[in-house]
Amino acid sequence: MDEKKKVMLSGIKPSGDLTLGSYLGAIKNWAERAEQFDCYYFMADLHALTTRQNPADLRRRTLEQLAQYVACGLDPEKNTLFIQSHVPAHAELGWVLSCYTMFGELSRMTQFKDKSQKNADNINGGLFAYPSLMAADILLYQPDYVPVGDDQKQHVELTRDVAQRFNNLYGETFRVPEPYIPKVGARVMDLLNPESKMSKSDDVGNGRVCLMDSPEDIMRKFKRAVTDSDTDEHCVRFDPQNKPGVANLMQIYAACTGRSFEEIEAEFTGQGYGAFKLAVGESVVEMLRPIREEAQRLMKDKAYLEDLCRTGADRAGRIAYKTLRKVYKKVGLVAAVR
Ligand code: TRP
Repeated sequence: MDEKKKVMLSGIKPSGDLTLGSYLGAIKNWAERAEQFDCYYFMADLHALTTRQNPADLRRRTLEQLAQYVACGLDPEKNTLFIQSHVPAHAELGWVLSCYTMFGELSRMTQFKDKSQKNADNINGGLFAYPSLMAADILLYQPDYVPVGDDQKQHVELTRDVAQRFNNLYGETFRVPEPYIPKVGARVMDLLNPESKMSKSDDVGNGRVCLMDSPEDIMRKFKRAVTDSDTDEHCVRFDPQNKPGVANLMQIYAACTGRSFEEIEAEFTGQGYGAFKLAVGESVVEMLRPIREEAQRLMKDKAYLEDLCRTGADRAGRIAYKTLRKVYKKVGLVAAVR
């Protein structure tokens, strides 16, 4: 028998369409880990409710995200892929953990502060308690690692605090997970505003490339990408401090083609940004084409998607309920008779 594999878990909120940034920064790396780790990936649809969603869009995006996970190479046989709301233990443990997360802790979360500013007319209880639900998502599966971007690190730290607090009160119940910040994995920036991350939720779309964008849309967005006013023959060079737009495009091109920055600089010596941006756009079109086509095909196969949902939720549910039963018992809830 192999030694037991380490467990890894992550989720993405289907509040916006997945982007080139979601793929290069996260999902592509996830797909490469299936042999080494026991992996759980889910669509955090309950989390999406913390900001107003159009119901039809949310439904479409959640299923599309599942189809895209598979199209990006996450093998559903080797990874447990599921929709958060299909495993009610998330909401159930979320409630319990909200009773072990302090008002002060939740008030200090930078994401809560940001989102309260952006949604001043809808600072709801769910937005505030978001990290307790996220702690439940994580702790249910007893993972060793939680791969997240920088913006979610604070939530994973809080999850560790809550797990430790609970363990101290009731004895070893939760494994205390580590955030996992991958060594490789590009941080893709917005094409029009290369100082900020390419976000899936910003509604104006020209600086962000979505996995389902048509080749024409992708090319249009790259042609408009912000560079700078350099015109010398070495204007394509890697200098993230002074040339953030160009550095971002180089990073994207490197990820799509496997070329190094030196090779890219050599390739475009003596050429202007016009030719460079076309080349980057084309490399992205070719990388995303099979993903988009496969996701579109899967979206039409309702029976397959349903089967995927059912299998994923069953597999996840078995693990999640084991943890939830333990927690209910420890805190003193009477066991339900079934
Ligand atoms: N909060 C994450 C986001 O904004 C999504 C998420 C929800 C998540 N639960 C999680 C990520 C658990 C990792 C682990 O995208």
